[in-house]
Amino acid sequence: MALAPGPRRLIRLQRLDGRVALVTGVARGQGRAHAVRLAREGAHIVGIDIAGPIDGIPYDHATLDDLAETERLVAAEGRESMLVQGDVRDLDALTTLASDAVERWGRLDVVVANAGICIPATWDESTPKIFQDTLDINVTGTWNTVMATAPHVIATGRGSIILISSYAGKKMQPFMVHYTTSKHAVTGMTRAFAAELGAHNIRVNSVHPGAVDSPMGSGQMQSRIESTMQANPRLAPMGTPFLNEYAASSEQIADAVAFLASDDSSFITAEHLSVDGGAQYF
Ligand SMILES: NC(=O)c1ccc[n+]([C@@H]2O[C@H](COP(=O)([O-])OP(=O)(O)OC[C@H]3O[C@@H](n4cnc5c(N)ncnc54)[C@H](O)[C@@H]3O)[C@@H](O)[C@H]2O)c1
Repeated sequence: MALAPGPRRLIRLQRLDGRVALVTGVARGQGRAHAVRLAREGAHIVGIDIAGPIDGIPYDHATLDDLAETERLVAAEGRESMLVQGDVRDLDALTTLASDAVERWGRLDVVVANAGICIPATWDESTPKIFQDTLDINVTGTWNTVMATAPHVIATGRGSIILISSYAGKKMQPFMVHYTTSKHAVTGMTRAFAAELGAHNIRVNSVHPGAVDSPMGSGQMQSRIESTMQANPRLAPMGTPFLNEYAASSEQIADAVAFLASDDSSFITAEHLSVDGGAQYF
């Protein structure tokens, strides 16, 4: 006898039921998509975002309203959240947030180090400040996130840490020496943390999006990219996907993050998962 289809909520996957996930850069874009998707899988969400201006970025910055909207969307999934304004360059802020989360929910299972910036500039337009800011946020911010959270994941007994790198962390992104450097550092950091944290049943993997349709593409971002391309047009087609869509949605990246966060990937660690439509091979 065929069963009548039940309400949608009943057939949802709940691979993270009762677990707690921390996401950086949670106010909008991919970070918000990760928070909402992990909440849909059953996790409570801890999050941090600078939610304000960042020196040098050519796109619109995130706001406190964005952070509040993420909170609303997580609540709509029936899960609790603790979202704060703060900077991943501030190790103390991350340490306090992780401790507060564990005090509230008693555990920390999943970490998504997603916060990052991207400033297009040809090699000879790049300044020491662009290079330093990019490394401070994309690399030191990622390291801070793992350092503040790993002790709690160890205490939980097992977990999954996911570092958001990029296509630029496997191949390279033209006209972004600083960004490419930072995202390759994240790739190496993934393997190095995976080696040591494996003994604590913690998996560490990186995700490598190609182009993503997020607010990072707002404001002057497209025109900045186009003007850098004029410096050497033969590099412009790099990063073209094999598939017909040029950019992924944030939700498509969140699908990969949810897989790596869940027990469906229980023997996968030190892996570098591309979600780029094949662009790394173009
Ligand atoms: N958009 C793309 O095409 C693309 C492609 C590959 C990789 N990525 C990476 O994906 C991640 C998410 O990017 P996105 O597309 O969602 O961009 P986004 O700009 O929409 O979101 C990034 C979020 O991180 C926050 N953030 C930035 N610096 C911070 C800091 N110092 N402390 C705390 N929060 C900070 C921002 O406020 C913002 O809310 C980044 O690491 C980015 O490098 C993006």
